[in-house]
Amino acid sequence: MHDERDTVRPSGLGDGEELAFLRAMSGQFHEDESDAELERYVPVVERDRTIVARDGERIVGTYAVRTATLSVPGGAPVACAGVTAVGVAQTHRRRGLLRAMMEQGLADARERGDVVAALYASEASIYGRFGFGVSARQLRYRLDRAGVRFRDPVEVGLVEPATVEQALATWPAILEAGVRAQRGGCLDMPAAHWQVWLGSDPSAARDGASARRLVHVPGRGYAAYRVKGRYTDVLPDGEVVLLQLVAADAEAEQALWQHVTDVDLTATVSSWLRPPDDALPWMITDPMRLRAGEAPPLYTRLLDVPAALAARTYRAPGAVTVRVHDRLVGSHTYRLEVASDGRADCAEVTDADTAGGHHTVDLECSLESLSSVWLGGVRVCELRAARRLVEHTDGAVARLDAMVAVDRLPWTPFEF
Ligand SMILES: CC(C)(COP(=O)(O)OP(=O)(O)OC[C@H]1O[C@@H](n2cnc3c(N)ncnc32)[C@H](O)[C@@H]1OP(=O)(O)O)[C@@H](O)C(=O)NCCC(=O)NCCS
Repeated sequence: MHDERDTVRPSGLGDGEELAFLRAMSGQFHEDESDAELERYVPVVERDRTIVARDGERIVGTYAVRTATLSVPGGAPVACAGVTAVGVAQTHRRRGLLRAMMEQGLADARERGDVVAALYASEASIYGRFGFGVSARQLRYRLDRAGVRFRDPVEVGLVEPATVEQALATWPAILEAGVRAQRGGCLDMPAAHWQVWLGSDPSAARDGASARRLVHVPGRGYAAYRVKGRYTDVLPDGEVVLLQLVAADAEAEQALWQHVTDVDLTATVSSWLRPPDDALPWMITDPMRLRAGEAPPLYTRLLDVPAALAARTYRAPGAVTVRVHDRLVGSHTYRLEVASDGRADCAEVTDADTAGGHHTVDLECSLESLSSVWLGGVRVCELRAARRLVEHTDGAVARLDAMVAVDRLPWTPFEF
């Protein structure tokens, strides 16, 4: 029988092949961006971390990694492989190319010392089999501007227009203080990525909307949005398409929301990737004006379970022993012990320890499930209710839920 892996092997990306890689990737997503648009991304292609599958000369599979760190509750960010640009040509699907690239990519990441891998998925059913679990749920909004009243308005004059240069110089610190220092689940944005995001704004990428509008409360918060002009009959019916709104303090955050919900000639504000514990519903008098739905979640996959679990701090002390099953690395048992100061130790437990009664396995689950709960964004009891986790010791689910609970839910306000 013909085995595709004999002829189409994943390999690295050669010198000068960045554009060919980006073209292949863009085609796989049915976007077919022009070379001029794709050129913008060349500086952030990490050639030594890129995997392609080739059929002869032709690139028929793509997989890229953004070298990153991921914020965790109460601790220093951990080394993270931001998996992106995953795609396989229509002519080469369902022959194992994604699996081959993913297995190689995750093995490379583990070898480099990445503690976790993270990604956004085009379809929710693809990545669980590779150990990725939903770690940060996110919402999209559609806000009916006419009905929006703020309960306790702040001085909207705090909001100023920002130049690209001001944004590049000051917004990274706001993202750090407003999201990464407060929440788990946020990737870092190195300067080159800020430059890709804000450095150009080709009209072909605007989907019929205006150029990007940049505003900020200097040093405290920022928002980027576009405006889609539209008239229904003779009435202005435009839309503010909010790209990102982040603030390090509550007053700046509300000033920015007041600004984006008060743009002339618009009737709605739509936004993408908001955290489920967002402040906005509590700022306005009628939260029913805010129609929220599911937005793509952030998925993570633990690569080094003890390092990942020990990297964060915990809400409550306690100990649990968890047996974890994974198709890529097999089954392993870990004991997590959290001291009264919230700091944790985690180590693998041998079969001899569990068989000898030294440690009892309290919980058993897939790596996908453990990856979902480690940042506190998904509750352990929810997964048990969905039969995704087995409780062997009474009270272990409640104990782990109390330990992993967080003040602010995980959130990455941008896709990568
Ligand atoms: C999704 C995609 C990358 C899959 O590539 P592929 O080479 O066909 O996948 P493989 O043959 O290696 O399949 C690996 C496994 O994933 C499953 N799978 C593949 N595509 C899937 C999909 N769209 N939904 C659910 N499961 C899928 C396969 O059934 C297989 O499962 P198994 O090994 O457990 O039996 C490819 O269809 C694609 O490029 N789609 C468009 C771009 C895209 O959506 N990329 C993902 C971006 S996050």
